[in-house]
Amino acid sequence: MVDSVFRTRSLGTPAEGVRDQYADGKAARVWEVFIGDKNQRTQNYRDFLVGLLRQKGCHRILDVACGTGVDSVMLLEEGFEVVSVDASDKMLKYALKSRWERRKEPAFDNWVIEEANWLTLPEDIGHLLGEGFDAVICLGNSFAHMPDSFGDQREQKQAFANFERCVKPGGLLLIDHRNYDYIIETGQTPSKCIYYNSRHMTDIKTSVLFISGKPAIVTMDYMITLEDDKNNPELVNEFRLSYYPHRLNIFRDMLAEAFHFKAKHTIYGDFKPLDIVKDPAFYIHVLEK
Ligand SMILES: C[S@@+](CC[C@H](N)C(=O)[O-])C[C@H]1O[C@@H](n2cnc3c(N)ncnc32)[C@H](O)[C@@H]1O
Repeated sequence: MVDSVFRTRSLGTPAEGVRDQYADGKAARVWEVFIGDKNQRTQNYRDFLVGLLRQKGCHRILDVACGTGVDSVMLLEEGFEVVSVDASDKMLKYALKSRWERRKEPAFDNWVIEEANWLTLPEDIGHLLGEGFDAVICLGNSFAHMPDSFGDQREQKQAFANFERCVKPGGLLLIDHRNYDYIIETGQTPSKCIYYNSRHMTDIKTSVLFISGKPAIVTMDYMITLEDDKNNPELVNEFRLSYYPHRLNIFRDMLAEAFHFKAKHTIYGDFKPLDIVKDPAFYIHVLEK
């Protein structure tokens, strides 16, 4: 059931410091179920990401929102060198477990996993930065986790500037967000996810909080049926995450500014050119520094 009381933070979020929405461990656990089998990524996604990185000659990748490690594992299996970071130790726990279980494979033995926050990223991973990464990725609607605490998006701009610093000249930033323009307009979030192939039925109950007439927070209650019986409430697992609703045009302009208006910037809708997909679920931005 969805609460009738609107809470702007999930229960595990600490009141101070890094706002880790996964801190109570529940969302991290259910997220693993939501994303399904890590080897079963949708083929479109795999082809898009791996194809683009290979085409641009990228080898060393920084995953700045690795979460439980789902994108990183796919890239390791495809032969990339990966450094994975995340602010949530509850999420990293799953990535560390995967590395341990597969430690006999050289790619996994060499997999670097560290805790880092986007707001302090260059300092947090200074020892790994060198002249920058061939590509930095921030995928799975991760960036929208960062709230706008001051009402002027300054922290989001700082995070973009830090991502830019981690990309080597000629390298790429890949970053995505859900289609919040659509979500704000319709009040609905498509439950089909382009990234995962979870066999568990998922519905997403969406709430949009407006402050002074402006959409400020979107809250999604993920309903996940653990068995194939969606009428049995006992079997429905749920967790709540809150997001900043990025408008496409504003997001695009902030990224362009972070790259000093010099980067080639291509936007895809569900991995396809924007003009051929109507109301995509996700926008994926690719910047070439
Ligand atoms: C939705 S999960 C996505 C993980 C993974 N990319 C995927 O697709 O499954 C978003 C991740 O972003 C991380 N995150 C949110 N804010 C962060 C911040 N300020 N610094 C670093 N990581 C952050 C969260 O801890 C979480 O693991």
